[in-house]
Amino acid sequence: MRISLKATGLVLACAAALAGCGGGGGKPLLTLDGAKPLVIAHRGASGYLPEETLEAYAKAIDLGADCIEPDLISTKDGVLIARHDPNLAYSTDVASHPEFANRKRVDWNVDGELQTGWFAHDFTLAEIKTLGAIATDVERPQQYNGQFKVVTFQEIIDLAKSRSVGGRVISVYPETKNPTYHRQLGLPLEDKLIAQLTAAGWNRKDAPVFVQSFEPSSLKYMKSKGLQTKIVQLIDADDYDFKTGGLSYAPPYDRPYDWTLAGDKRLFSDMVTPAGLAEIKTYADGIGPWKPYIVPIKGEFDANGKMKDLNGDGKVDLQDGRTQPPTSLIADAHKAGLFVHPYTFRNEKRRLAFDYAGNPQAEYLQFYRLGVDGVFSDFTDTALAARDAYLREMGY
Ligand code: G3P
Ligand code: CA
Repeated sequence: MRISLKATGLVLACAAALAGCGGGGGKPLLTLDGAKPLVIAHRGASGYLPEETLEAYAKAIDLGADCIEPDLISTKDGVLIARHDPNLAYSTDVASHPEFANRKRVDWNVDGELQTGWFAHDFTLAEIKTLGAIATDVERPQQYNGQFKVVTFQEIIDLAKSRSVGGRVISVYPETKNPTYHRQLGLPLEDKLIAQLTAAGWNRKDAPVFVQSFEPSSLKYMKSKGLQTKIVQLIDADDYDFKTGGLSYAPPYDRPYDWTLAGDKRLFSDMVTPAGLAEIKTYADGIGPWKPYIVPIKGEFDANGKMKDLNGDGKVDLQDGRTQPPTSLIADAHKAGLFVHPYTFRNEKRRLAFDYAGNPQAEYLQFYRLGVDGVFSDFTDTALAARDAYLREMGY
């Protein structure tokens, strides 16, 4: 799921963080513009603090992130806030607020998926500000649950600006989340996003802004309405297919939801073909693909067709998958003039393929060596440590 930075001088986007590579005696980097790959703090320092809160974004900046990444959804009163899901039950303590018990919806349709919970479009910003954010991953620190508030996009812009000092520039990387769903609710995201970026003085190509979405129509609409920032097409899939080393495509992760509604039968996989990339180039500057589009993962199977438990922990999962030779996606995208920001890099052992031996830095290093232009990471410090190691290796 995301112009040639070199050609347009977009290196200004994260200028201080990016400056210096491609010269000074090191080997040429394989990124599109020859600059260091960006470290994009996915939902903030979400490995450490409840995601998409001001505290999580501030921590990511403290750790040295180049970009902070919010997912944008709408409140009932039309304010853009940072949450990964319209269902507030997933990332807040709304379920423990008796005053909102009667707002619970059962089997509410979000992009074709029936969900039960409390949905942001039923709450004003003032009401949402009474909720506490919670960690969405039970394996991550839980002690901060309920302590931090849901944050608005404006507060994120203000944070990035206030922390862009001394030559350092913090970029923001907003995603229009479920854009068709929001349009159907009468709460479209796009015009508000453009208005806020314009008011911030950031509606320009060299602004420290990347606007991303899984839905091409959302990105195309914003471009048609005068969005000038860098634009990124996200590319998803449903799951690994350990048998073939490919990916599986089941709803709602088979194709963008706007394609589903339009009856467009193409899959996300059609976006990574040369024709798909050429089409993306007509409205975007880069792609944000799920990682296995670049490094496929495949299992080993016994004579009975059962996947082998390579790490011997009694379970068969990603940790038993072997990395396969990389695809040509980075080269193909770069040839089309698109930068490549794969997602999402995480430290937990259960999220790492067998060949990384539980070492998340090994995964980052592989992707940096392949020439990615940035990485979405839940653990900014690990991404940066691996980038430092990579740059040393390249003679910087
Ligand atoms: O935005 C990049 C990547 O994180 C897309 O996945 O589901 O976290 O928005 P998601
Ligand atoms: Ca195992």
